[in-house]
Amino acid sequence: MQSKSINILGIETSCDETAAAVVADGRAVKSSVVASQVKLHEKYGGVVPEIASRAHIENIYPVVDEAIQQAGLDKADIDAVAVANQPGLTVALIVGVTAAKTLCFALEKPLIAINHLHAHMQSAVLDQADFQLPAVALIVSGGHTSLYDYRSPLEPELLGSTIDDAAGEAFDKVATILKLPYPGGPSIEKMAKEGDPTAIKFPRSLLDRDSLDFSFSGIKTAVLYYCRGQDMKGKNKVDSMSQNQIADIAASFQAAVVEGLVEKARRAAEKIGADTVLLGGGVAANNQRRLSLQRMCESAKPPKKLLVAPKQYCTDNAVMVASLAYHKFKAGLFADLTLEPKAGAL
Ligand code: KG4
Ligand code: ZN
Repeated sequence: MQSKSINILGIETSCDETAAAVVADGRAVKSSVVASQVKLHEKYGGVVPEIASRAHIENIYPVVDEAIQQAGLDKADIDAVAVANQPGLTVALIVGVTAAKTLCFALEKPLIAINHLHAHMQSAVLDQADFQLPAVALIVSGGHTSLYDYRSPLEPELLGSTIDDAAGEAFDKVATILKLPYPGGPSIEKMAKEGDPTAIKFPRSLLDRDSLDFSFSGIKTAVLYYCRGQDMKGKNKVDSMSQNQIADIAASFQAAVVEGLVEKARRAAEKIGADTVLLGGGVAANNQRRLSLQRMCESAKPPKKLLVAPKQYCTDNAVMVASLAYHKFKAGLFADLTLEPKAGAL
């Protein structure tokens, strides 16, 4: 007899997307609802925590209801509720955590706490039945840039992370300097397609030879100086630049960021003898990065397999939360109703 599937409701509110999803047995996506707040934060060029929090409060229950409805289930059919409780903006995380705890209390279902960055890794293996371990996981998002030694979905070990800006944050800030629309990642990528990545040699901050940490603030500052002059006294020259000049800056900046990311992933893979490289997080949507990482994996000796999260699951979503929660469910790793959000944990 076929055993009953385990339906997990996932909830994600760590930054600026209110998301809920139902996933069966960790793989079968029954629904995925994402209410994006891009329009609300656009004019500020970045996420404003208080605005994010208020929008999460308005959206959370409609989004959860829609996810359950689209899955064709009743609330009673849900076997557990999982929520990303770290890392992220505390005022945003608290909304998802409170909703999840309330549902668990009312429905008498178990609660599962999920690390948002570990969930990003899960997006890369969502449709992979088997792959060789160990793997190196590179998670690059708006708020984080981290490398992990991945031997199981439950215990990824942090190898390195950014010592200043996250890569996505650098994309967003450089887009503001270049007066490109928010969010910066996709608009820089679009602009960069028209530009020459070798036009300007922005610095590559690879830190020490053995370091697996990242640094992007130097590249960002170099773009700022390039546009405003070293003394920052000049006007932002972007207004008088041609589209080609702006495209060259975008392409050269993107090349510098991508090179740093790929080099660190290569070092990490070599260090732990990885057979596979996993790529996830919002910046993973960047095609240039996928291609460069693919080339690195193919030319490594021995070659490594690259698994990239499907595009719709690169940026924040709740499918990755519900999918990872299945592994915790099977391992009996439940949280209690005193669960709190944690802003900083990696
Ligand atoms: O993972 P995510 O949705 O949110 C966080 O957990 O932070 O990532 C959002 C980030 C933003 O900084 C956005 O600019 C960036 O991902 N992003 C991209 C692309 N699409 C989104 N960066 C580079 N190229 C893209 N195509
Ligand atoms: Zn994220």
